[in-house]
Amino acid sequence: MKIVHAASELFPYVKTGGLADAVASLAGTLADHGHEVSVFLPGYRAALEHPEVAGAARKLRLKIEMGDQFLTGDVRVFSPRKNLQVYLVCREEFFDRRNPYGTGERDYEDNADRFIFFCKGVVETLRLADLQADVVHCHDWQTALLPLLVRDAERKHGVTLAVKTVFTIHNIAYQGLFPRSVFARTNLPEDLNNIDGLEYYEQTNLLKGGILFADRVTTVSPRYAKEIQTPEFGNGLDGVVQTREDDIVGFVNGVDMAVWNPATDELLPARYSMANLAGKQACRGELARQCGFGSQFKGPVFGVVCRFAEQKGLELLLANRGFFITQECRLVVLGSGEKRYVDALRELSAQAPSKVFLSVKLDEKMSHLIEAGSDFFVMPSLFEPCGLNQMYSQIYGTVPIVSRVGGLIDTVVDIDESPETGTGIMCAPTTEGIGEGLHRALKLYADKPRLAAVQRRGMSRDFSWRAAAEGYERLYQESL
Ligand code: ADP
Ligand code: GLC
Repeated sequence: MKIVHAASELFPYVKTGGLADAVASLAGTLADHGHEVSVFLPGYRAALEHPEVAGAARKLRLKIEMGDQFLTGDVRVFSPRKNLQVYLVCREEFFDRRNPYGTGERDYEDNADRFIFFCKGVVETLRLADLQADVVHCHDWQTALLPLLVRDAERKHGVTLAVKTVFTIHNIAYQGLFPRSVFARTNLPEDLNNIDGLEYYEQTNLLKGGILFADRVTTVSPRYAKEIQTPEFGNGLDGVVQTREDDIVGFVNGVDMAVWNPATDELLPARYSMANLAGKQACRGELARQCGFGSQFKGPVFGVVCRFAEQKGLELLLANRGFFITQECRLVVLGSGEKRYVDALRELSAQAPSKVFLSVKLDEKMSHLIEAGSDFFVMPSLFEPCGLNQMYSQIYGTVPIVSRVGGLIDTVVDIDESPETGTGIMCAPTTEGIGEGLHRALKLYADKPRLAAVQRRGMSRDFSWRAAAEGYERLYQESL
């Protein structure tokens, strides 16, 4: 099949979270399966500066209609592996910036224009380069207009650009919600500018377009597919998702085993496998050294790596700060994002500098060291569409402590409920729930044979992309 993906992040060129990992490894797996795969990505500065992209050839010039203006841009293309082409939709004004979405304090004011331009650039390339896509598969709000824009361009030009469109919701909390006036920038027919189209409480909601108008809608775990049909998790779009109740499916993301595998991970100071965990001890020692924990401490190391956003439940972790100060243990947190969490975590690490270490940045290498060197990995998420780190932890022999929500339910088995098969600790997403989970972890840590069995079970699970990629392949086939 000819499969076109469009997304606002793609590992290793631009990444702020799991979207980049998920799209990259899905596209890569489909390419390995012999499909002709193209991935569209905005031509961000970080992507253009990536060594692999430096030689990307200019494919075509764009002239994009945005409301009553025309904006120019260009498209560059390169091929990072067999059967895979990456297209960068470039326009300096929009994408030559330090971050993909905002300054860190707040979102860029022209995000609507930036991503509408990106979507239109994809559609123009489909047409001008005659890509003849069987499937256009788009991800999250930044690309949610594509199903509509593809069909609109087909009508205007009397051509077929894509046989089917698929839209994947990675996170319904981010919707691309803009003032109503933004609708004019889409140049879509006015009859989509109402409640049956993109209008949402007097605003324009781009995500809604993807959910309503893609031929197929998917999300990143079966559990999340159900959750987002409820008011508790639907972020105001539960009713809209319910209109797709018969055909929305959830495939759990896989793990790119070329990147996340303790036996081959070049970012670690030592490698290890289930048969020989000595390397894990070396990683733990190195992590402790980098965090200034010394070498003579007792108790487990708890690791956290995440975006500092409400979703990740840092509130619940912080509400248990007493645990980390009084118990025999260490805590290392890596992440970046909202200032309120940075401040609160800084305060905690200042209170117990020899026990709590905080690093506020994006650091791919450190994230691997934390996965490998920690004894437990904590994810107290309030909601979690899929979550990747709980899978990485299991593969790295690090026991995940997770909230009982979304994809975490689909990927972790609780050790007390299923003593024979358990791989992690599941908690209610409350202060008490997480507190209890942390205490259960101390108990497990004290029982070394049981801990080793839990680690082994996690390490032997198959989290590869095979199952998910086959799910998507079936879905593409069926829709065609
Ligand atoms: P989300 O996509 O909601 O952020 P996921 O668990 O799906 O959550 O994926 C997060 C990804 O981003 C993981 O690969 C994680 O290691 C990575 N990540 C998050 N914060 C950082 C950071 N500060 N440095 C390096 N990697 C990070
Ligand atoms: C989103 C979700 C996360 C998921 C990732 C990749 O960022 O928050 O749970 O793992 O997308 O699908």
